[in-house]
Amino acid sequence: MTLKKELLWQSRFSEPFDRDALFYSSSVHVDKKLYKEDIQGSIAHVTMLAEEHIVGTDEAKQIVAGLMEIEDELTSGTLVPHWEDEDIHTVIENRLKEKIGSVAGKLHSGRSRNDQVATDTRLYMRSQIGELREAVGELLRVLVEKAERYRDTIIFGYTHLQRAQPISAGHYYLAYFNMFVRDRDRLDDLMKRVNISPLGAAAFAGSTLPLNARRSAELLGFDDLFSNSIDAVSDRDIVIEFISDCSVIMMHLSRFAEDLILWSSYEFGYLTISDAFATGSSIMPQKKNADIAELVRGKCGRVYGNLMAMLTIMKGLPLSYNRDMQEDKQPLFDSAETAVSSLRIFGKLLEHTTLREEKLAKLTSEDLSLATEIAEYLVRKQIPFRDAHRITGKIVTWSIAEDVTLPNISVEKFREFSEVIGEDIYSCLKADSSVNSKKTHGSCSFASVERQLVEARKLV
Ligand code: ARG
Repeated sequence: MTLKKELLWQSRFSEPFDRDALFYSSSVHVDKKLYKEDIQGSIAHVTMLAEEHIVGTDEAKQIVAGLMEIEDELTSGTLVPHWEDEDIHTVIENRLKEKIGSVAGKLHSGRSRNDQVATDTRLYMRSQIGELREAVGELLRVLVEKAERYRDTIIFGYTHLQRAQPISAGHYYLAYFNMFVRDRDRLDDLMKRVNISPLGAAAFAGSTLPLNARRSAELLGFDDLFSNSIDAVSDRDIVIEFISDCSVIMMHLSRFAEDLILWSSYEFGYLTISDAFATGSSIMPQKKNADIAELVRGKCGRVYGNLMAMLTIMKGLPLSYNRDMQEDKQPLFDSAETAVSSLRIFGKLLEHTTLREEKLAKLTSEDLSLATEIAEYLVRKQIPFRDAHRITGKIVTWSIAEDVTLPNISVEKFREFSEVIGEDIYSCLKADSSVNSKKTHGSCSFASVERQLVEARKLV
């Protein structure tokens, strides 16, 4: 089956490209998302070409006007990209030719689709880094709000998913705050490498035309330009880095989601998700599920898959450009969209959760997680920590066997384990005084949480 249109590169062939082969290799259905970036890049390129007298001023004007119309057509849907055009760059160039005739052919002077697509991809990543930063920022705002609201609420801190020590809930929320601040820092750092123009590298070796690559970089708002034309078109390390940053964001969200799922379960019962963010079951009428959190956790797997896909696509590619690299778009777009939408929905979900303060107060006041307080009490009475640990372990064993909670053990009983114990033991057997008596830097005490909040508010 032969094709209606001639492809951009067809002239040296005596036989038309096979239709099935074109269908297989066409990327229009994916890269059509880049039409705005592609047109932006073309306008900058042709503006530079005119300034350098490589094309006429009037010709450049015609090309720019045509490109702007095409952008409107693509946005409004009056121009529907067709797969037979091979990729979005060709869709736009073919349409330009229909509109302004053969002068359209001057746009591609000194340019290859290799530097063109590298430019589009960088412009896309630049705007997505902006979206991600904004979405992270919104989540940070919710986290600070939660930390303020629940600063004085005591929850269990866990290690190994076993109750470990009581902590301020504010401390817990600020832990995630710190992780997402680092995620934002990582994006800022990535931006330094993304915001570099590859335009003007042409296919990979440069051009005999007097291109001014610095000027097109400047027109596109890039901070700098490539220094090696091969490197400019043939690496996708920043795509890998971008997906890696998305993966870390998703990993943080996924852990947080896991906590929400567990805590909202009947077994934990620490937290309520409001009905607007919970789902039910089509068969079990009593069910209230945390599907949104589960989906965030699940989508994390997809983004990890994208990272592995990109690492594998690039592995073993000989320099410079290879068509394999066209496969970068799907993982890139999917990772960006998944991370942005997950951050946004997770912030909203978090806003729609409340801690069950009464229940938590009751649970934390009677729990064995106060045992570390006893050990540190003994240390303050000059007992070596290892002995204090052993003595406390015996107290815990007795408490479990006799079903007496730590604060309800009599002082006489305590003294059977160690005679240094006095009435003052009871002041450390309260969850709030336990939390509050933490003295160290960045600890879970209310005062420390307040100090952390002062810093956190500056970063929101
Ligand atoms: N659609 C291609 C891509 O995304 C554009 C570059 C094509 N270049 C080539 N030499 N076939 O990578």
